Amino acid sequence: MAFTVAIDGPAAAGKGTLSKALAKHFGFAYLDTGLLYRAVGAKVLLGADAIEAAQALTADDLAAINLRTADVAEAASKVAAIPEVRAALVDFQRAFARRDGGAVLDGRDIGTVICPEAEAKLFVTASPEVRAERRWLELRVSDPDASLADVLEDVRARDERDITRAAAPLKPAEDAETLDTSDLGIEAALAAAIRFVETRM
Ligand code: C5P
Repeated sequence: MAFTVAIDGPAAAGKGTLSKALAKHFGFAYLDTGLLYRAVGAKVLLGADAIEAAQALTADDLAAINLRTADVAEAASKVAAIPEVRAALVDFQRAFARRDGGAVLDGRDIGTVICPEAEAKLFVTASPEVRAERRWLELRVSDPDASLADVLEDVRARDERDITRAAAPLKPAEDAETLDTSDLGIEAALAAAIRFVETRM
């Protein structure tokens, strides 16, 4: 039986960690849809055409190294504004969402566009300052010179692009439950998310 958990929200709100843990808890499959846009963005940085890259995307592209860099994130958020790029990625996401055994998908438009019929929708958010600090702490491991001010600027720029774009802008679905993780640790956020999903089963 299919059961879809749609998790949307801005960059670095904790969606990925939460979605992975939620999928594990319920024994569901997990898809980080940001990786699809990152894989297209990475190809564009190598000179590909965005729409062609999206149409030709394969599972191998998602396993490519270096999809988590700031440059790729920036390129991803640019290609994500192109309607033809988004359209090329819809079928794959919908098929994943409706697979037998349940699925958790995280992204920006899962509850609004990809899976409006999802059984459970969460909008996971946190203040820009908290999100920037979390991203900065992660980044510092590989880049000791990373500046918090630069990361905050990146977070704000990406929010702005995701929220104001015409194609599938970032916004909570009307029937989504909002989970603000600004003052919540991962354990507390996960417990709240599990309780919410259980109410939809
Ligand atoms: O979530 P992540 O930071 O990996 O996503 C990279 C970029 O891909 C986002 O900034 C956003 O512009 C785009 N994206 C999107 N729709 C999704 C997932 C990601 O537009 N469902």
